[in-house]
Amino acid sequence: MGKKSVASVNKSKEKRQARKLEQRRIADGMSYVTSANKLKELAPLCKELLVYRNKDLEIDMYIQKVTELDKKVLDWAIDLTERNMKNLYETCAWGWNKDDKVEQMMDDSAWYLIAKDKNDKLQAFSHFRFDMDFGDPVLYCYELQIEAGGRRRGLGQRVMGVLERLAAATRMRCVRLTALTHNPSASAFFRACGYILDETSPPKEEISHYEILSKAIEAMDEDSPKENSDSRIEIAGS
Ligand SMILES: CC(C)(COP(=O)(O)OP(=O)(O)OC[C@H]1O[C@@H](n2cnc3c(N)ncnc32)[C@H](O)[C@@H]1OP(=O)(O)O)[C@@H](O)C(=O)NCCC(=O)NCCS
Repeated sequence: MGKKSVASVNKSKEKRQARKLEQRRIADGMSYVTSANKLKELAPLCKELLVYRNKDLEIDMYIQKVTELDKKVLDWAIDLTERNMKNLYETCAWGWNKDDKVEQMMDDSAWYLIAKDKNDKLQAFSHFRFDMDFGDPVLYCYELQIEAGGRRRGLGQRVMGVLERLAAATRMRCVRLTALTHNPSASAFFRACGYILDETSPPKEEISHYEILSKAIEAMDEDSPKENSDSRIEIAGS
């Protein structure tokens, strides 16, 4: 047993430091996710984005936890998901299982962004969650569904903009989502919104019917411009 060389001692030290940093990064991420999920209201973090007007649409949005969502609104969201996605699910390895989808949509950790038009007609929703995913704090977009009559007017892009703002204000590392590869309109849409193949996406040779897309999010930190300062949440212990 010889004496360890200086180089090998330094290497072990570097490894220990890297491990510590990684543990710290994960612990911070978990605390951001916990803090985000404890928020009573998300609207103050993104209020100016919740009103969307263009020449054909007058939309107001609100955000609630699934546990606070009106049953009629949840039923509409489930129905819209079935109308939009059933065929796509049926034509891939997943298949369509309504009970599983309803269970996923009703999970206690689900947040909902709901968009209504000026006649109070429900037009779009997103189901999203703050979660740890592969060691990263992420805002995971589980669902983005727009009524057929409300599409191609920038509403989907605005909804993603709201999710991105929420992710920044709660210090999530990215907005991540799963997209079916045989849904070309969704693929074109997410790419147009700046989403790219995520590092956690499975290799195409192994799984080809879905891919993981994401958009990196820059946290709103202490040096952020003044207008952002009241839309960032305080994280305990940070
Ligand atoms: C995909 C979806 C969310 C897009 O929402 P949207 O409100 O229509 O999208 P936007 O109007 O914000 O589109 C922004 C850009 O995305 C791209 N895009 C959107 N829909 C597209 C389509 N069908 N084909 C090609 N590009 C498209 C365009 O570049 C568009 O900009 P442009 O209209 O100026 O050309 C909507 O079509 C939808 O709900 N589809 C059914 C459900 C679904 O597939 N959800 C996503 C998977 S969970």
